[in-house]
Amino acid sequence: MKKRLLGILLCVVMIASLLTACGTKETGGKGGDKTIGVCMPTKDLQRWNQDGQNMESQLKEAGYKVDLQYASNDIQTQVSQIENMIANDVDMLVIASIEGDSLGTVLAQAKEKDIPVIAYDRLIMNTDAVSYYATFDNYMVGQKQGEYIEEALDLKNAAGPFNIELITGDPGDNNARFFFNGAMDVLNPYIDAGKLVVKSGQTDFATVATANWSTENAQSRMENIISSFYADGTELHAVMASNDSTALGVANALTASYTGEWPILTGQDCDIANVKNMIAGKQSMSIFKDTRDLAKQTVKMVDAIMKGGEAPVNDEETYDNGKGIVPTYLCEPVFADVNNYEELLVESGYYTADQLK
Ligand code: BGC
Repeated sequence: MKKRLLGILLCVVMIASLLTACGTKETGGKGGDKTIGVCMPTKDLQRWNQDGQNMESQLKEAGYKVDLQYASNDIQTQVSQIENMIANDVDMLVIASIEGDSLGTVLAQAKEKDIPVIAYDRLIMNTDAVSYYATFDNYMVGQKQGEYIEEALDLKNAAGPFNIELITGDPGDNNARFFFNGAMDVLNPYIDAGKLVVKSGQTDFATVATANWSTENAQSRMENIISSFYADGTELHAVMASNDSTALGVANALTASYTGEWPILTGQDCDIANVKNMIAGKQSMSIFKDTRDLAKQTVKMVDAIMKGGEAPVNDEETYDNGKGIVPTYLCEPVFADVNNYEELLVESGYYTADQLK
């Protein structure tokens, strides 16, 4: 009888400890009272608002506290925000930089305090304080834009020549060169063969770059190009714009001062204004980078590092920040146009149909 009682007691104790172990495992997945500092460049562009919101909600869901800051595209503001976060002893920093080269000094302080840093979307240059990089495949973004133009003008078969103009992003953003090179590796052979002609003659990165990725800067450069090279009825067949804020500037300039048939126009981000332009026939495509996926991947990295492990990566050779290769997770971009935007953007819950009206 005593033996049986002892047996039952032992079983109860074992079941209780098993249940406790399961419970511990579950809460072990939570961030506890750890705080993650999230630095975003600006609220001016739609995508960074989405990135910030996604990061905040997904980190909170994983149990972390979040200090989310936007820096109005002002480098010094971003530096101060990071300094404050370090002074407040955040446990980790996730940073989408304004200018890749300007954070070396402040991040040296993070390194001294053993605060890990993840570069978000944009690589942070010339510092050994960055542990990981999470982004979309930036070269592929440009490649898809180039291929879209190649296909739309049927460059492989058509005789041409076709006129094209080029517009890319901020020279302080490491991504801009990847976008530009990806697109130009597709387009350059056609330019060399004379099938594509850049009437303005503006083809080098520095000349076609757009400070701050600003719509206004893109618009005024495009207006100058139109009035100098296309005001006499010369047809403009395509504009390779690296993202949506610059594509918007191009579309505004075309609306204001170009009278020919609307050219092929590329973009990136699927911002609402640009998707509306796509539906209206004023932009041909945009690259869709689902910011929910980038946030999800980054949160996985944060969680792995906070638990003392290694973050999941899928590229350990492409992104050298001047101090060495930064292990990277690359998400895959896809192209959106008027034929697939509903499936990609509405059915996936990224936007509601009403937002695009
Ligand atoms: C991002 C793009 C964005 C651009 C302007 C780049 O670093 O990758 O998605 O359009 O910055 O904000």
